[in-house]
Order: sequence, then C-alpha cells, then structure tokens
Amino acid sequence: MIKDIVLNALNKQIKLEGDSSQLYLAMASWAEVKGLEGTANFLYTHADEERMHMLKLIKFINERGGKAFVPQIEEPKQDFSTLKDIFTAILKHEMFVSESINEIVGLTLEERDYSTHNFLQWYVSEQIEEEKLARNILDKLEMIGSDKGGLYLFDRDIVTLSVDATAE
Ligand SMILES: [Fe+2]
Ligand SMILES: [Fe+2]
Repeated sequence: MIKDIVLNALNKQIKLEGDSSQLYLAMASWAEVKGLEGTANFLYTHADEERMHMLKLIKFINERGGKAFVPQIEEPKQDFSTLKDIFTAILKHEMFVSESINEIVGLTLEERDYSTHNFLQWYVSEQIEEEKLARNILDKLEMIGSDKGGLYLFDRDIVTLSVDATAE
C-alpha cells in the first residue's frame, strides 16, 4: 500500500507530465504551421513520450493499491517567436520537471518507500537525458543564429537527435 503523502506527490507528477505533453504538442503545432516539418515531428514524438511518462505513473500508483488522479490539463503557451525561444522554454521546463522528480525521490527516502524510490530512478535518468538533449539542441541553434541555410539543415537533421536511448 502506498502512503498518502507519496500518493499525493505522484499524482501531482501525473499532472506535470500531462502538462508537459500539452506543451510539446503546442510547440509541435507551431513548428508545423511554420513549415518546420522535422522539428514538428520531433516535438510531436516528444509529446507522445511525455504522455507515456504520465501513463507509467498512473499504472504504478494503481498497481500499488493507490488511486491515480487524472487531472484537467492546463492550456499551454501557443505562440512562440523562434526555434531558440522554443528550446529555451523546453530546457527551463525540463529543469523544473527534474526538480519535481528530485523532490519526490527525497520524499520516498524520508518515508522509507523503497519501491517507489526504485520506480523513480527511471525518471531520474530520463530527466538527465532530456536536459542533455535540450542543451545540445540549444548549442546548435546558438551556432546557427539567423542563418537560413543553417536552420534548413537543422530542421532536416533534428530527427537524428530524437533517438532517446533511455526511452522504453
Ligand atoms: Fe516527462
Ligand atoms: Fe520531459
């Protein structure tokens, strides 16, 4: 059985993963309208991954005898100015998510809930990968600046960056 304090923290994380999925979806749609097909595909795929993170939490809670709460999802930001704008927002968002995961990991130790602690290690690794990927992409965008040819190649090649070694 899962303690209420841990259950509440995991349920909050469900919402955060759901909100993440919506955020990536809004960014994907923006990129698609701008004709940035590669970036749009990358972001659509990422929106699906975030939904998978949410599902994984729901199933874990229910399997442990808790009851997952399926939240209302916030309307994400819809307008962006540049790709750099988007990936800066992504890095900031992922750092916030990492912080949230770390808080829950700390809580599971305090509560001696070692099975949830063990379960959360997957999220710890995932956040390291996601932050790394966002930083990597931002470095590339920094190099490209406003060079149109560079942006064209970025959009064509971003698909090669989306292979996430830790995704299941
Ligand atoms: Fe996530
Ligand atoms: Fe994420």
